[in-house]
Amino acid sequence: MRQAGRYLPEYRALRQRHSILELCHDPDLATQVTLQPVERLGVDAAILFADILLPFEPLGLGLAFAAGEGPQIARPIRSAAHVAALPPVDPAQDLGYVLEAVRLICRALRPEVPLIGFAGAPFTLASYAIEGGATRSFAVTKRFMYAEPRAWHALLELLADLVGRYLAAQAAAGAHALQLFDSWVGCLGPEDYRAYVQPHSRRALEIAAGGGVPVIHFGTETGGFLEDFAAAGGDVIGVDWRIPLDAAWERLAPGQAIQGNLDPATLLASRATLEARVRDILTRAGGRPGHIFNLGHGVLPETPVEALQAVVELVHGC
Ligand code: CP3
Repeated sequence: MRQAGRYLPEYRALRQRHSILELCHDPDLATQVTLQPVERLGVDAAILFADILLPFEPLGLGLAFAAGEGPQIARPIRSAAHVAALPPVDPAQDLGYVLEAVRLICRALRPEVPLIGFAGAPFTLASYAIEGGATRSFAVTKRFMYAEPRAWHALLELLADLVGRYLAAQAAAGAHALQLFDSWVGCLGPEDYRAYVQPHSRRALEIAAGGGVPVIHFGTETGGFLEDFAAAGGDVIGVDWRIPLDAAWERLAPGQAIQGNLDPATLLASRATLEARVRDILTRAGGRPGHIFNLGHGVLPETPVEALQAVVELVHGC
């Protein structure tokens, strides 16, 4: 959940000299950034420093990160012809620098700290590829989904296969767990999730499972269709704070673990409020096996490092 990022002074220092893409492209720098929060916070796992949008480069979409405006895609996908013309991507070759970072990070981490690799889920990737950048309404994405269902399914099939193989390759390079980020899937209603997205997430998760390590299936605002989201697969289901952890857990498939679900904004609240929210989540987990304590979404840039350190200490002490 962006444990490496702008809230960390040592990350900001590196960002003064390098763009996000430079940090991602250079395995030594990516290793350095990945280790920063592990040392600072004492968290139980490291998450690979990369970005879900990196596969857009070999797909020829043109990727840039503009300061303050988020990702910008130079050649967004707006036609069936564009989908049909997308080049094949071989993660081992075309994203080899990420796999090299995975190998370096695994060597650099203390043996008791596992590394989580990740990729974007077909829907969330398609939404950026079609919109060309961030959106609130997902209007361009949904219009394409309804107007061009064949091209939509072809695109999501292609992305599912790509990210599935990319995740399995990260496991082969040494990642101890994998996370599939479907950050924006909660913009859909249940029926559209089932018809337009679920089969593709299922496929991506199936291929990723071939990597032989646990897979976390993460989404936000999935309360309207959590059973369907969980049924797509994943050893662990990530949930945000919009649903109580215990209520969410009851809606997962038998044996599925849960990850979450502290609101990142509570890290900006008083220490007493923050502690109460952390304790509430742990109470709802009730000491049952299969809960990964985490934020429900990314750390906000204005978060004080001390608040995150306090959460780690509190959770470890419980
Ligand atoms: O510790 C970590 O988690 C860092 C690794 C990481 C990044 N991106 C680096 C990054 C991870 C796991 C991601 C995933 C990612 N990227 C997601 C899924 C997770 C989520 O938060 O929902 C998404 C949707 C993206 C796409 C993306 N990348 C956006 C929307 C932005 C801009 C956001 C912003 O705050 O400006 C990025 C840029 C980006 N990727 C940053 C980081 C740390 C922002 C920091 C910077 O400007 O250096």
